[in-house]
Amino acid sequence: MKKSTYSRRKFLGISAAAAGASLAPKSILLTPEPLLASARPAPASDRLRFGMIGIGMQGSGLLTESITLPGVECAAACDLYDGRHTLAKEIVRPDLPVTRRYQELLADKNIDCIVAAVPDHWHKQVVVDAVSAGKDIYCEKPMSHSAADGVAMVEAAKRTGRIVQIGSQRVSSLVCKKAKEMVAQGMLGDLMMVEGWLGRNDPTGAWEYPPPTDLSPQTLDWDTWQGNVAKRPFDPYIFARWRCWKEYGTGVAGDLLVHLVSGMMFILNMNDAPQQAMSLGGILRFKDGRNMPDVHATLFKYGEIPVYMRLNLGTDMPETYRFQGSKGILEVTEFGLSYTPQTGKDSGPSYYDSGFPHEMRAAYEKKWHEENDPKLGQEPMLEAMTFHGPDFDDMKPHLWNFFEAVRSRKPVVEDAVFGHHAALACHMANESYFRKTAVSWDQASKSIKS
Ligand SMILES: NC(=O)c1ccc[n+]([C@@H]2O[C@H](COP(=O)([O-])OP(=O)(O)OC[C@H]3O[C@@H](n4cnc5c(N)ncnc54)[C@H](O)[C@@H]3O)[C@@H](O)[C@H]2O)c1
Repeated sequence: MKKSTYSRRKFLGISAAAAGASLAPKSILLTPEPLLASARPAPASDRLRFGMIGIGMQGSGLLTESITLPGVECAAACDLYDGRHTLAKEIVRPDLPVTRRYQELLADKNIDCIVAAVPDHWHKQVVVDAVSAGKDIYCEKPMSHSAADGVAMVEAAKRTGRIVQIGSQRVSSLVCKKAKEMVAQGMLGDLMMVEGWLGRNDPTGAWEYPPPTDLSPQTLDWDTWQGNVAKRPFDPYIFARWRCWKEYGTGVAGDLLVHLVSGMMFILNMNDAPQQAMSLGGILRFKDGRNMPDVHATLFKYGEIPVYMRLNLGTDMPETYRFQGSKGILEVTEFGLSYTPQTGKDSGPSYYDSGFPHEMRAAYEKKWHEENDPKLGQEPMLEAMTFHGPDFDDMKPHLWNFFEAVRSRKPVVEDAVFGHHAALACHMANESYFRKTAVSWDQASKSIKS
């Protein structure tokens, strides 16, 4: 990671221009980009027809948002559970074509692209099949279920040249964009450390979801749902709560840490896997048969920078980052950010002089004041800044970025390489937890080593 160099004069110039001449702390509202406000009508030839795969908790939201975007329409939907065919028709239109076989959507020449929100253990297959069939795809985060899956997905995206957008929507958020600008301006000085955390404290937050009441081997293709995982008898709890088990999900790392990591990568303008990860955690609160930890703390090494991320399903704590630099702290939360500057200089004679005899101390302090005191009336005042913005869970602009890329063939904000790097941090956090040792990413063998 490149260290940013801080130009105080540059920052003061920028902040004064942005915030007027007053020295009081600034609080500024972030205004959404006009992009989504301009619902321009799209000519029929310019309309994008997407196929939706997976219409569960997240897929239903993606579907609902996508069909409100200008020039975007849903052509067909696929799910292995029939209840979600009903749901897709309720969202889009009663005669929407639906199927249990996503391959039918990939073979349909009238479908331009795919939006997929299937459980993590299905991501690789759906993405590889989609790009191999010539379809661009928006696939939910975390990109992969394992490091090896991610390597295969990056290869498939490169081989086919199709557009792949991964669904960690922080990277499309106005709050994160403002944070990125502030870091790029050098306001943090040299970056020293990053910390981030997120906590929840209720069964739903810990994925104890109620299975759909009519779920049965008749209404669900349970065999296909299990994919390549060793087959188990029909279990509605696994269907609804798959995040709890490593065979299907990626735990708090893939569910929640991936948002913190992708947002951090975006804000710091980096696109790498961490070199190292060390995790501790356990199943401390939800002892419901899950095999993934509900408390998981990981210390990563990115370049020279320690990055400490903490996920906790037993205590509610709003999602927060703290970027700590030699010139201040940038705190980023879901609804805004605040910057608190620090001079990095002594504000008075060193307190070490309490160990000097009287005369020596007096002489040292006199000299210090002569050399360092500002002229009367010219004492520097530091300016703190606060921005309030819309929620950084920015699904709609993230989808829009994908559909616009499908039209323009310009790159997306979160391609397969970025998605792979963000997911690798999560896989390394999990591997370190299960192996009980530090792990590192070995680029030569493209694997996680202890
Ligand atoms: N970006 C976010 O903020 C966010 C939020 C929630 C979930 N997600 C991600 O979205 C994905 C889905 O999560 P969810 O909570 O919606 O899960 P879910 O279990 O509610 O829904 C998944 C749906 O996919 C269907 N499905 C599974 N395999 C399939 C296949 N081979 N073909 C067709 N349909 C298949 C299931 O039947 C189910 O209806 C996950 O990867 C999750 O991490 C992202």
